[in-house]
Amino acid sequence: MPAIVSEWLNILLRWTHIIAAIMWVGDSFLFMWMDRHLEKPSRPRDGDVTGELWMVHSGGFYEVVKRRTLSVGEIPERLHWFKWQAYTTWLSGIALLAVVYWFGGAVYLVDHSVSPLSAAQAVGLSAASLVAGWLLYDALWMSSLARRPGVAVAVSLLLLAGVAVGFTHAFSGRGAFLMTGAFLATIMAANVWRRIIPAQKQMMAATRAGKAADATLGARAKSRSTHNHYLTFPVVFCMLSNHFPSMYGHSQPAAVLLLFMTFGITFKYWMNFRGRTPQWILAAGVLSLLGLVGLTAPRPAGAVAGAGSVTTAVDYETARRVMERRCFTCHSLHPTNPSFPEPPSGVRFDEPERMVALAERIRVRAVETKTMPLGNLTGMTDEERDTLAAWIAAGAPGR
Ligand code: HEC
Repeated sequence: MPAIVSEWLNILLRWTHIIAAIMWVGDSFLFMWMDRHLEKPSRPRDGDVTGELWMVHSGGFYEVVKRRTLSVGEIPERLHWFKWQAYTTWLSGIALLAVVYWFGGAVYLVDHSVSPLSAAQAVGLSAASLVAGWLLYDALWMSSLARRPGVAVAVSLLLLAGVAVGFTHAFSGRGAFLMTGAFLATIMAANVWRRIIPAQKQMMAATRAGKAADATLGARAKSRSTHNHYLTFPVVFCMLSNHFPSMYGHSQPAAVLLLFMTFGITFKYWMNFRGRTPQWILAAGVLSLLGLVGLTAPRPAGAVAGAGSVTTAVDYETARRVMERRCFTCHSLHPTNPSFPEPPSGVRFDEPERMVALAERIRVRAVETKTMPLGNLTGMTDEERDTLAAWIAAGAPGR
């Protein structure tokens, strides 16, 4: 695909995806917030009222009254549904996943230092895991286990941890983080499509027929939308993680992922319930955050890729020869790697000043996190990484 076409696709899809996601998450937060702030009606109200609340926004006052059910005569002419935000987010997200991670040889997904998966196998596994994840999650929550939500939540979280660990053993760090996000987001969108909206349709149909709605469907829809709500923070972290090589490029990527996801879920809980948050949830949140800070703390100077196999000072020419072999195929004025007609992120190393100016980023990407060369496509060795480390330790001389 010509670079400009894939760039445009990327822009349009990403833009749509983020706007739709803001709307979806915003709705989720607002409705969860409203549910928590409903009060007993201050005056007699018609119908099956669960609560009311007042809000001020946009230059006016909003009076919200929540009803559990409606009678036939009460069905409004116009009833607003909330579903396209979720569908648009998912559809644009999958398209973006394909454009960035599947097409073009799956360079962001495959890392042969992690697993021997070929590009086709990695794409196949990535797509299949999204479908399988939903089927497994849904089967779990449709089974009798769902009647014991505490146990079902624990089983779901354990399965999720297993999947996240599995991804970090199949895909590149970056790919594993993003796939964990896509995995959860697929479950969330399918919750809306297969469980939440059908339950609401059934409620409407029953109301129109003058019958009582099946309360189990309504309860299930509420529980699925609560799952979606708590998954938003972990998912947003996974989706943004590709900006943070120190996270996805960590030597223990699964630990980073799990600690952050734990922090995200507990933090959302705390936001919702503040003073009423159980101590163990607070403790889990604080410990996971501290654990993450500790885990990603800078390592001592000697602890580099091959544990310091290069101890002599390295001059510019030696460092440049390594960079030329391993980095220039992408990071030069005219990259020879067909996936990159332009140097990625505009980063070039084919002039001494550029290499010197970017020495710290070279250290982070090629020595500390080993997230460059991308997927180690150019087969960089640990000794070469140490050579660069030694060049930087010698003050990154430019000649
Ligand atoms: C196969 C192509 C490829 C090769 C080879 C490659 N890179 Fe990259 N590099 C990329 C891509 C794509 C990006 C943008 C995405 C990203 O930042 O992960 C990038 C971004 C970067 C950045 C800018 C982002 C930042 O974190 O500051 C640096 C620095 C970098 N690479 C260093 C290197 C070094 C050093 C080497 C050689 C040891 C190297 N790269 C080899 C593809 C490559």
